[in-house]
Amino acid sequence: MKWNKVKKGKSFITAFIGVSTILTLIVSLSVSSVSAQENVDTFDWTRENVSNLTITDQNTAPKINKDELVGITSDSYIWDSWPLQDMNGHPAVVNGFKIIFALSVPKDVLPGKRHDTAEIHYFYSKDGKTWESGGPVFKDGKALGSRQWAGSSIVHKNGELQIFYTATGQKNETQLSYDQRIATATADISTTNTSVTFKNWSKHKIILEADGEYYQTKEQTGNKETSYAFRDPYFFQDPKTREKYLLFEANSAGKLENRPYKHAYIGSDEFRQNHVSPESSKAYNGSIGIAKAANNDSSKFELMPPLLEANYVNDELERPSVIVKGNNYYLFAKTHSEKFASGLNAPEGLYGFTSESLFGGYQPLNESGLVIANPTDNPYQAYSWMVMPNGTVTSFVNYVNVDEKDIYEIGEQSTEYQMEHFGGVLAPSLKISITRDETKILHEKKQGVFK
Ligand code: FRU
Repeated sequence: MKWNKVKKGKSFITAFIGVSTILTLIVSLSVSSVSAQENVDTFDWTRENVSNLTITDQNTAPKINKDELVGITSDSYIWDSWPLQDMNGHPAVVNGFKIIFALSVPKDVLPGKRHDTAEIHYFYSKDGKTWESGGPVFKDGKALGSRQWAGSSIVHKNGELQIFYTATGQKNETQLSYDQRIATATADISTTNTSVTFKNWSKHKIILEADGEYYQTKEQTGNKETSYAFRDPYFFQDPKTREKYLLFEANSAGKLENRPYKHAYIGSDEFRQNHVSPESSKAYNGSIGIAKAANNDSSKFELMPPLLEANYVNDELERPSVIVKGNNYYLFAKTHSEKFASGLNAPEGLYGFTSESLFGGYQPLNESGLVIANPTDNPYQAYSWMVMPNGTVTSFVNYVNVDEKDIYEIGEQSTEYQMEHFGGVLAPSLKISITRDETKILHEKKQGVFK
């Protein structure tokens, strides 16, 4: 259901005033909370913001030494990973077990091809340090899409697992497609003294698709645009209102030729006087989307306007998430250096924004948004950072020690080179401090610590 249909529901309901005063009161109360949230004040992450970026000790991650790290499994690579979370976003413990989820492929897959056959695997641990592999989460072949991309997993109060994931491509497709839809399924979590399994799976269901009005559809994406996204759901229950949401990575709606230019994409009057935005930057339209749960069991969501757009700035704001600290919301996403529009020079990293409201008033953290950058002499060492509510940040080891090669040149190297330089393991976690609109990397933690 589209958001504008919710508006129509309001007039229908108010026409029935008089049937019962109490009923009307309850209904109008819930409707007013819906219309309040129609006013999403989409934040424009500007070229001016990104131009304020400086690389410092406070935002540069320590260099990773891949040889000191161990794989969570010996026969597979993993990359995007996330913990089972409770409704407050904290890593959950189920009968003494911590559980994490990760995209995975067998180790003989060329790292650059891993996205084409990704599966979600899970791992469990009592100490949060040594992990046991549970194998694929969806063992019965019922998962949607030809492959599954990143997601988010929560445990409900009744102990049930709910997983949200990206159904990429279409089941049994003969030619690989990049369709992306957001799906969910639930299961019971069953534990013994030594193992965790998921049982009684529900039917998998597509719950969100790009609408072409707030979020670009694949059909609206032209060949001048470098990538397409409607993926990476992140479940979030707002502690202030108890409302439930999914955040996701998307693109601003419309075909390239129909998307209007706005000064607001570039920055202040003063900045614009001396700044040239190359013509090609028009094709960059990354966004962070949000949808609101429309029923209690979080199996139905309604799209809302995006929280953030990066038109003329960036094309890929991956795996968005939000945490709450004090009175403030902290919105995070990760992006690659080559996904910034030309004329902007910014590292592969974790970027963040803060506001007192979930729905607007965002400011970039540290003026530019940059929270964690890979070191300049190891620019692709880690990726897919995820910020836990306590400031622990997890990620995985991507390509290390690639000298001066950029990501495209890495892709042209021999199979041996690519395999030797790819990590495919959990990275050492980092601890960051967050004070109002400033963050700082405090120290490195052990490999793969989610707490
Ligand atoms: C980030 C990412 C995600 C996507 C997955 C696909 O590393 O691109 O946005 O879900 O990897 O493999």
